[in-house]
This record gives sequence, structure tokens and C-alpha cells, in this order.
Amino acid sequence: MRRKLAAGNWKMNGTRAALAEIGAMREAASGAAEVLICPPATLVAQAVGNDAGVVIGGQDCHANASGAHTGDISAEMLKDAGATYVILGHSERRQDHDEHDDLVRDKARAAWEAGLSVVLCVGESLAQRDAQNTLDIIGGQLAGSIPDGATGHNLVVAYEPIWAIGTGKVPTTDQIGEVHDFMRSRLERRFGAGVGRSVRLLYGGSVKPSNAAEIFAVSNVDGALVGGASLKASDFVPIIDALNDSAD
Ligand code: PGA
Repeated sequence: MRRKLAAGNWKMNGTRAALAEIGAMREAASGAAEVLICPPATLVAQAVGNDAGVVIGGQDCHANASGAHTGDISAEMLKDAGATYVILGHSERRQDHDEHDDLVRDKARAAWEAGLSVVLCVGESLAQRDAQNTLDIIGGQLAGSIPDGATGHNLVVAYEPIWAIGTGKVPTTDQIGEVHDFMRSRLERRFGAGVGRSVRLLYGGSVKPSNAAEIFAVSNVDGALVGGASLKASDFVPIIDALNDSAD
């Protein structure tokens, strides 16, 4: 059985005042679904100490464990601060920092070595979708970004169409289902049925309280990676509740 996962990606948002939002998720976080918040690195340790039943993750890590890399943080540092997850390969990292599959794969290895689970993001651009290349792009990113050795514990995959992130545009449930079924079959083919079936698959891109329930009803959608609507408990709690209801 795959435990549902509601994951929040705060991106470059949030100062210490925002920690109260995590506290306000406490009750919703006591349901069947696991609740993860990935705040900015400056808040990771305090968010962990907040003890709201919410697990905490980073948004990126370096591929090396330590060294002369000014401004970067390592997977070990996130782990030491109390994080249990790290988001890797987000399209904003791929675009803003020119991250490619081979670097994402090296970072994932580093995260696993430090004992972190990875939320690995894949997704096509609008031009790639319009050219009917979506499944090729997703298949290539899965093959290139995920190291050997994936398990249902150390890997979560998030399908985030770039054109749906922060835009209010959401794929149809058929489009989401097509990609999620495809990702499931690719994971089963590469890692075997047992592991392939145990990796959780999240949908991300403009998930809101108003569309969460229909997205969670799609086959092979085990939860969501939520940006804007994870910043406030008043938005994220209804999404968590919808996921808890879908797990019944
Ligand atoms: P959004 O972002 O929910 O604001 O569209 C999702 C993400 O980038 O993870």
C-alpha cells in the first residue's frame, strides 16, 4: 500500500513568521496521509522543532557531501537539521540553474547516501506537449534523473507540467492519468513490479482546494506537490483533507 503524500513546496517564500502556518496544519496532518513541507533552508531546523506532525524537507541539495561550494547546502546538512526529504530536479532549478538529468541523478545519490528521501520532479513544457512529445520527455527524465537503487521509501516522483506551475492552468484528469500510468509502468519495468508499485507518484501544478479532490481520484495519483496553495494553512488544510478523504 502506498501512503498518500501531501507535499508543500514553499520555494523562496517564508520568514520565521510563516512557521505558525505549519503549526496550524497539525490537526489535518494527523490523518492517514503523510504531510510534508519544504520551506526555505533557513527555516528547516525550526520547522522540524515545531512538532506539528508534519515532516520537513529541503528544496535542493548539492551533489557533494561538503567542500568549497559557496552558497550551497549538502544533503547531510539538511539531514542534520532534521529534514527527511529533499525536492530535486524541480523545473525552476532546471531552468534557473541549468540543472540537467545527470546532475539531478548525482544529487539524488547524495541525498540517499545522507538518508534523505527524494521527491524527484519531471515535467514537459507547453511546446513539448503541443509537439506530442510529453511521454518521451517524461520517460527520458525518469531514466536520466533516477539513480539505480530506487525504493518505495527513498523515492517519490512528482509530475509537474511546467506550463501548469503557478499559472492556474491544470491538465485534464485524462492527461494526468496518462502520464501517471506511464510513469508507473516505466518504474515497474526498470525496478521490478514490487518497487515500481511502491513508489509514490504526485501531481503538481496549480493544485488548489477547488481541484484537489478530482485530481486525487485519478489512478496512480498518490498525492500532490503544491506550491502557492501550501503557503497558508487555510489553503493547504483543505487539500490535505481531500487527500485524507481519498485514502478512505
Ligand atoms: P504551484 O507550484 O502549486 O504554485 O503551481 C507547484 C510546484 O512548483 O511545485
